[in-house]
Amino acid sequence: MQTLEITRPDDWHVHLRDGAELAAVAGHTARRFARAIVMPNLLPPVTTTAQAAAYRDRIRAALPPSSEFEPLMTLYLTDRTTPEEIARAGASGIVHAVKLYPAGATTHSDAGVTAIERTQAVLETMAATGLVLSVHGEVTAAQVDVFDREVAFIDSVLAPLIERLPDLRIVFEHITTRAAVDFVLAAPVTVAATITPQHLLLNRNALFAGGLRPHHYCLPVLKRERDREALVGAATGGSPKFFLGTDSAPHAEAAKLADCGCAGCYTAVAALELYAEVFEDAGALARLEGFASWFGADFYRLPRNRERLTLVREPWRIPPWLPLGGGRLIPLRADTTCRWRLA
Ligand code: DOR
Ligand code: ZN
Repeated sequence: MQTLEITRPDDWHVHLRDGAELAAVAGHTARRFARAIVMPNLLPPVTTTAQAAAYRDRIRAALPPSSEFEPLMTLYLTDRTTPEEIARAGASGIVHAVKLYPAGATTHSDAGVTAIERTQAVLETMAATGLVLSVHGEVTAAQVDVFDREVAFIDSVLAPLIERLPDLRIVFEHITTRAAVDFVLAAPVTVAATITPQHLLLNRNALFAGGLRPHHYCLPVLKRERDREALVGAATGGSPKFFLGTDSAPHAEAAKLADCGCAGCYTAVAALELYAEVFEDAGALARLEGFASWFGADFYRLPRNRERLTLVREPWRIPPWLPLGGGRLIPLRADTTCRWRLA
């Protein structure tokens, strides 16, 4: 039987939610990953270091005391975030990034930034303190086609931002397009990107395969096959600018199957295993370790994990659903076979 032993990986972008949902999902992430960058888009959002510390305590309390999982916290950037709060976050040792959501771009982004210029003083403090800016890279203007929003963001926001703040480290989150891959490759070393399993496995046809497929709807939305191919090339190509970030985002089944269904794919229950399939299909299993376990830690200036993790090439069934509070959570690839499993 084929096995693959790698440095224990980290997830550089995950949504763990709170309360009963947190209790239902945290174990899936903690079983696979040593650490995770935890997104701050709770209701209300995590905007202060004190809130991040309290949220971190709730995450640890949702896991067994024996768990060594380390939540890496983030703050939610708003028009009103102050340089003082950023300085506190930078000194805290528990906050590692600040998340930029353009207002209205996605789930719980209403409190996000309305104009990036308003955050200039805060971004300068981040560059000075070494905090990473984590970016949801989509414009929100109604006249911009939903499939073009990432590319428009590169031109109108991201490229000028990098020029204005050459010392600020930026993670372009969950990139979805060939244009984003090319942009990140050409950008300075201060710029990196995360890539999700769904954007590596699926193209936008998956949204309409035989009918409307709400469980394939996430933001940024899936793109064309040529974009997916470019993402696979980036993830499996060995460049340290691309690393693992699942964007695993649980929503109750009822919230997905609604008149206005929520955006998000839940992958945490099989995340590393799904990435392994992608790398195997690309003939690049030997490069999974860099993508999953090294490059993110290096970019965030954190030590690489010392523990190891073994994957076994043995088929298992991804569950058809998982309990989530009182409801059900449908994972990506529900009730299908995954070729790799955790040892
Ligand atoms: O699909 C998504 N779901 N994209 C995001 O940016 C947010 C996330 C969520 O929080 O549900
Ligand atoms: Zn996300």
